[in-house]
Amino acid sequence: MKALIMVDRDASWLRPLNNVFPQPLLEFANKSMLEHQLDALVDAGVRQVVIAVPYRAEEMEQEFKPYAERKGVKLIFSQETEPLGTAGPMALARKYLESDSEPFFVLNSDILCDFPFKDMVAFHKNHGGEGTIAVTKVEEPSKYGVVIYDQKGKVESFMEKPEEFVSNKINAGLYILNSKVLDRIEILPASMEKEIFPMMASSQQLYAYELKGYWIDIGKQDILTGTCLYLQAERQNSETKLKFRSEVGIVGNVLIDESVKIGSNCHVGPSVTIGKDVIIGDNVCIKRCVILRGSKIGSNTWLEDCIVGVYCKIGQMVRMEKSVVPSQNIITDNGVYVILSSHK
Ligand code: GDD
Repeated sequence: MKALIMVDRDASWLRPLNNVFPQPLLEFANKSMLEHQLDALVDAGVRQVVIAVPYRAEEMEQEFKPYAERKGVKLIFSQETEPLGTAGPMALARKYLESDSEPFFVLNSDILCDFPFKDMVAFHKNHGGEGTIAVTKVEEPSKYGVVIYDQKGKVESFMEKPEEFVSNKINAGLYILNSKVLDRIEILPASMEKEIFPMMASSQQLYAYELKGYWIDIGKQDILTGTCLYLQAERQNSETKLKFRSEVGIVGNVLIDESVKIGSNCHVGPSVTIGKDVIIGDNVCIKRCVILRGSKIGSNTWLEDCIVGVYCKIGQMVRMEKSVVPSQNIITDNGVYVILSSHK
């Protein structure tokens, strides 16, 4: 099967962190968002993925060349000259998506879940409609596409970000579509959610597949909350490929890249991820934090509820809580005490 991943410009929540990489290359739990999704697609047997991007296509293509070779997957970077919304990029990539008669997956790039692709395919083939959308339950549905469907999953209506409460079942941003859907779309800026899905629902061609496990939209969620949820879900997943570290000084759900150097007498965890090439001094305490690649943390420093961007330098005897350190920043003052209020 084939797939298309929708990638927009950098999301606002990433701005303080993301002056270095395009959004899909920024790491979540020590792996780029794109890699999380590609790994799941490849595991489900997908061998060709179109990555629809309105910018920096060449840079991403170079970055992902070794990945594509290693995994035996063909990656096609389809760059828009102007942003085409969530429907137009499919029309632009039409020749790849309809290269055979099989349906194709479509993914919003900021979604993580346990990606039950094989089960979704079985559901899609069984109902016989043109499209399947994965749905999940949330507490605050007004930020999402709300889906009303019957017991068999047939969608009766689809409303993108309704102002009034209609249901708490929402579009989870993962679809399977038959190539026939491409006849409904032109190479023009257009919204799948506002234009195409309501049309498919009214012609009874759209079905809802209920996700059972965890679901994270990291574009809308606080990154630390998302990380905790992800680590917890993966810890309970018997098929997880994550290697949680557990040794003296490391507590709870902690993911540390193999290249990380940690000094003596440190306390790390719970709920911490530490990316590639990070160096941590002695007597450091890190709780509920995301430390992105290449950063250095000085000795006797305390970090709690913090996100540290890529290639940052935090001095010795620093105490930080509830803070974001933007990528490539330096906090040199020994003994500095920082408390900020928001991660977003
Ligand atoms: N290539 C490309 N070009 N991708 C785009 C463009 C564009 O012009 N505009 C948005 N995208 C990508 C985004 O990166 C994201 O992966 C996806 O399309 C949807 O983005 P938004 O249009 O910003 O919608 P949203 O994130 O507020 O809501 C979407 O996701 C929710 C689930 O998290 C919708 O699909 C909702 O219905 C859904 O509930």
